[in-house]
Amino acid sequence: MRSFDSILASLPAGSSHAIGPALAQQMTTITPSVTGEVDAWVKELGATGSPVIALTTGEAIRNTPEHIVEAAVAACRSERLHRYTPPAGLPELREAIAAKTARDSGREVTADEVVVTSGVRQALSEALVAILDPGDEVLLPAPYWPTYPVEVRLAGGRAVTVPAAMANDFKVTVDQLESATSRRTKALLLCSPCNPTGAVYSPQELRAITEWAADEDLWVITDEIYEHLVYGSAVASTPPALVPTASDRCIVLNSVSKAHAMSGWRVGWLIGPSRLVGAVSALQSHATSHASNVAQAAALAALEGGLASVDAMTADLDRRRLRLCGSLAELPGVEVVEPSGAFYAFPSVDACLGGVLAGRAMRTTLELSSVLLQHGGVAVVPGEVFGRVGHLRISFALPDGVLEPSS
Ligand SMILES: Cc1ncc(COP(=O)(O)O)c(C=O)c1O
Repeated sequence: MRSFDSILASLPAGSSHAIGPALAQQMTTITPSVTGEVDAWVKELGATGSPVIALTTGEAIRNTPEHIVEAAVAACRSERLHRYTPPAGLPELREAIAAKTARDSGREVTADEVVVTSGVRQALSEALVAILDPGDEVLLPAPYWPTYPVEVRLAGGRAVTVPAAMANDFKVTVDQLESATSRRTKALLLCSPCNPTGAVYSPQELRAITEWAADEDLWVITDEIYEHLVYGSAVASTPPALVPTASDRCIVLNSVSKAHAMSGWRVGWLIGPSRLVGAVSALQSHATSHASNVAQAAALAALEGGLASVDAMTADLDRRRLRLCGSLAELPGVEVVEPSGAFYAFPSVDACLGGVLAGRAMRTTLELSSVLLQHGGVAVVPGEVFGRVGHLRISFALPDGVLEPSS
């Protein structure tokens, strides 16, 4: 089993001196998904009964609801689904995604504006390939989900990070975006509610950003995977509903992974103008043909099943969020902004850096995470992974009892 340290400091995949033909040059810059590797590491640890407290979880902790599993079982027996189906997705699922979009955001879309994918990851990758020419720039607020810059690079583009200040609840402003814009800027990629900060842009903020992006003739890509996981007075909103005249430049990414506890089923979607949907369907027809039919049938049951179990999970997460933030606020040297969405806190631990603990220097959050694990038995993800030193990502998607003080 790999050590936590070696995962956090993973080398680019192409850097070893293997015998045999070389890998592509671009592999020297691509590392495996650190959050994915940490997740696999935690699951392996759990299987060994290790006492490590893993605050690294990036998915719902409950099982997929039973009615969804039953729909998948039934789908296995449907001969129609044993064969290839349309690349853009099962027609009934595309219709259900259109209906869900109207239900949740008030935005009317047709099934023709939807492509079903194998999760947000594939939707993102295909959308970027479809819109970027070599050297095109994508504005990326930081901290960011680490897959974004990798996918931008793979599509031939360049991610231009825009630092979101903690003092502004980890949200970027139109002025900041404006300053980072060049004549090569082609798109803005925004995640709200955000992994890793939990930031949720208000409708007013998102409207202003979308109107600005439309004036600049940019694509606006929004990753809305955490849309249902919002707390307190926060409201998740979507740019094309706020600025309908910008719909022809908006690309919405979403999936059943987080809200419906279906991360392993691999079903997501993209909603965009028909020229983009056509391009992405064409790409997908060569890449994977389409998402697995059994998983698509399961996703259909999830979307048609209402939001009762999602709401129950959100209420549960909210309790954990308040407990975690309350505890963090009491720690010396730790400063926390209460996350309004998703299931992560992203406290600043800057004041804890610069010293020595247990004989180890703590100059970076990478080093601090390693010390926390070795001497405290607690695993967290250091801010470096998300493009922000001085912070830790702490998940509150945790089983009962983990956040309770031990007696
Ligand atoms: C912001 C964000 N987008 C996308 C994903 C992955 O989504 P999917 O499982 O639909 O590919 C994750 C998973 O951690 C995420 O945090």
